Amino acid sequence: MDAPRTRSSSFSPIFAGLLGLIFNAAVLCSGGITSSFVRVSQKSVDMPLDADVFRVPPGYNAPQQVHITQGDHEGKAVIVSWVTVDERGSNTVLYWSEKNSTKKLKAKGMVTKYKFYNYTSGYIHHTTIKNLQHNTKYYYEVGIGHTTRTFWFVTPPEVGPDVPYTFGLIGDLGQTFDSNRTLTHYQSNPSKGQAVLYVGDLSYADDYPNHDNVRWDTWARFVERSVAYQPWIWTAGNHEIDFAPEIGETKPFKPFTHRYHVPYNASDSTAPFWYSIKRGPAYVIVLASYSAYGKYTPQNLWLQEELPKVNRSETPWLIVLMHCPWYNSYVNHYMEGETMRVVYEPWFVQYKVDLVFAGHVHAYERSERISNIAYNIVNGLCSPVSDLSAPVYITIGDGGNIEGLATNMTEPQPKYSAYREASFGHAILDIKNRTHARFGWHCNQDGNAAEADSMWFYNRHWHPVDDSSAKL
Ligand SMILES: [Fe+2]
Repeated sequence: MDAPRTRSSSFSPIFAGLLGLIFNAAVLCSGGITSSFVRVSQKSVDMPLDADVFRVPPGYNAPQQVHITQGDHEGKAVIVSWVTVDERGSNTVLYWSEKNSTKKLKAKGMVTKYKFYNYTSGYIHHTTIKNLQHNTKYYYEVGIGHTTRTFWFVTPPEVGPDVPYTFGLIGDLGQTFDSNRTLTHYQSNPSKGQAVLYVGDLSYADDYPNHDNVRWDTWARFVERSVAYQPWIWTAGNHEIDFAPEIGETKPFKPFTHRYHVPYNASDSTAPFWYSIKRGPAYVIVLASYSAYGKYTPQNLWLQEELPKVNRSETPWLIVLMHCPWYNSYVNHYMEGETMRVVYEPWFVQYKVDLVFAGHVHAYERSERISNIAYNIVNGLCSPVSDLSAPVYITIGDGGNIEGLATNMTEPQPKYSAYREASFGHAILDIKNRTHARFGWHCNQDGNAAEADSMWFYNRHWHPVDDSSAKL
């Protein structure tokens, strides 16, 4: 039974009055809303290996861990990935459009496998289906002989400024009972996310001895019920690094890059950790918190070339995903994103990024539209200021992983922080047209349709009016 929830401003009249008597700092620092509700304060518990959600599909060499992601820059291709365990099997995907189910087409891909300390993976298949029609339901079949499995997906509408599209937002999911609640809650949300923007930290296998890669397999079987049917757009988090020199594993991102392919070539990226896609009305740029980003580095050069390419008449909504947040007022991971912010924030303001989503902190937080680009060390201008050309920063690392919630917040709540709450959940970004998008954060303890925090965001290019929830 969930405890009754209460939401309260950290600056109730009595509290603010008391604080004002003590010192004037409250005037400088009074932020937005902090909910005092804490669902659980202890660590979350991973689901046991024999849990239903980890069940291996029946049949000899049955494809398992099926997942899809966008396979090109425009949304006309899909990468289908799956694992076979008993033998290599086939890399071919059979697929057909709902509109023409008699015309079955084939796409052939590749297979890979890897070892990690004393673990050997199954056969990991990746096949890209290309030249799909927009706005079309496709069925696809993987496996051979008597053990095939069939799934389906719906392709996005053609890229365009006023096509509505609904994204889900999930981060730091892991594989606990709370993770399962988050995924179920997302799937049953009446707002119906059409694709997930995933902000990093997938399985948390590295929390186990020797980074037990069996937990990469169980995670992929757990999320199959969503990601086999709609693309999840992947961002690499710190739990994807799997750098373990103590057991001889010195190649960062080995399990992640073998298991999760992304279309980085399609956006002229040279590594799978930073890339971009267009999907409906959105241009989504994925950045890498754990790859070099300073001046002269490959990611920096790529982003410098990438931002001017975004045509807001074609894709009005410019969205950036990264794992480590730049604006985070929790004690956990406080200031960890600062060095990347210093390098890239001026570009985000210059190119009027609408929204930045991050994970890493196991809680929820939404900022005002703010920037902190005036600071140059000697001028002392070190506080974020209201900036209508700046993005809103949202931390959504509250998927429910084994490490538990981040409940310690810096106090008082900074002015740039509009709303923060340490509860598990997911969010929905419902883009309506070139000017308006509805955002809602959904807590696991609320009903399916309840939004614990919500906003109408106005597009920075087409409708750059003030959409702050409070004045700084
Ligand atoms: Fe993280």
